[in-house]
Amino acid sequence: MSLQSGSKPMGVGLIGCGVISGQYLTNLPRMPGVEVLACSDIDMAKAESRASEFGVPQAMAVDELLNDPDIELVLNLTIPKAHADVSLAIIGAGKHVYSEKPLTVDLEDATFILQAARQKGVAVGCAPDTFLGGGIQTCRKLIDDGAIGQPVAATAFMMNHGHESWHPDPAFYYQEGGGPMFDMGPYYLTALVNLMGPVKWVAGSAGAAFADRTIGSEPLRGQTINVDVPTHVAGVLDFGSGAIGTIITSFDVWASRLHRTIEIYGIDGTLAVPDPNIFGGRVQVRRGQEAEWSDVPLTHPEGGRGLGVAEMAAALRQGRKSRVDAQLANHVLDVMHSIHESSTRGRHIAISATAERPAAVEAGLPEGRFDSVPHPSS
Ligand SMILES: NC(=O)c1ccc[n+]([C@@H]2O[C@H](COP(=O)([O-])OP(=O)(O)OC[C@H]3O[C@@H](n4cnc5c(N)ncnc54)[C@H](O)[C@@H]3O)[C@@H](O)[C@H]2O)c1
Repeated sequence: MSLQSGSKPMGVGLIGCGVISGQYLTNLPRMPGVEVLACSDIDMAKAESRASEFGVPQAMAVDELLNDPDIELVLNLTIPKAHADVSLAIIGAGKHVYSEKPLTVDLEDATFILQAARQKGVAVGCAPDTFLGGGIQTCRKLIDDGAIGQPVAATAFMMNHGHESWHPDPAFYYQEGGGPMFDMGPYYLTALVNLMGPVKWVAGSAGAAFADRTIGSEPLRGQTINVDVPTHVAGVLDFGSGAIGTIITSFDVWASRLHRTIEIYGIDGTLAVPDPNIFGGRVQVRRGQEAEWSDVPLTHPEGGRGLGVAEMAAALRQGRKSRVDAQLANHVLDVMHSIHESSTRGRHIAISATAERPAAVEAGLPEGRFDSVPHPSS
């Protein structure tokens, strides 16, 4: 399939009609350049229910969706341990993939997916797309405009008590590929790479305070989940720029005033970055000796989940590299694995999956637009 096959809206199919599919199906109809044509799930009742709830033209079996010639790009919204097989099936069908995070559970699978996509001439994009939202892009512009001077350090914290109190089927959060770093780390690390550039080395410590979890939500209330993965993960990040980052992700903490914060420390001041799991939020700057924080109005529209799909479709139509190209997710996956590996081995780990800092989104454009003039392919 050509990467530049005209300017009609890109036909999109969706596999995995669970919790998060609702956000995509709410937002994608208002995004330019994409049109959702069909949805699918291993459980067809879920696909049919989502299709009727959101007016998706067709609910189809997975194979049928993969063989539909009108569908050029397929969203993989399945659970993390199914990501690799489903993405490979999409690539095998000659279609572009946009996967929910993490790209895959294993690094080897991620490498295999990127190779398979290259051979097949299709593109792979990956969530999170929150870094394309108004909050993080406003921060990106502030850094690029020199508002805090050269960034020299960063902190990122995501600490809560897990998802078993609300998610209808939360076991996957405590199985291989789950845990707070693989679940929430992608938001924080993707935002940090967008703001600070790629990571060169990491060190980490990881543990689990609770051997099991009790589900508090319906329909599985009262069932016990074994905890197979670390649920408190602390990492140190050495960025290629020389800046030093600290990240803590935890499902073991009942309350914290640091929850869902990122701060960037520059030579001339500090930038308070909004929660990278949302698209908007409050941006604040405090320079040098200033006694107070100043609020900075967002320079970009807030957006919502689905921005990454619109960006990828625009990139494919323009024949340029996408900001959500899976090279970035692969870098983030390597960082997350390496933090865990560092904890096991007791030493720093070099990051081998490299990525470039994605291009900034131009300020002042409407939602779902990223460049007033297509930027050159890279
Ligand atoms: N729930 C959230 O708040 C949230 C937020 C952001 C991202 N995500 C990510 O989105 C993805 C899905 O999360 P969710 O909460 O919607 O999970 P979910 O369990 O609610 O939904 C997953 C769906 O995928 C289907 N599925 C599983 N394996 C499949 C296969 N091989 N083929 C076809 N369908 C298959 C399941 O039947 C289910 O309907 C995960 O990667 C998660 O990390 C979730």
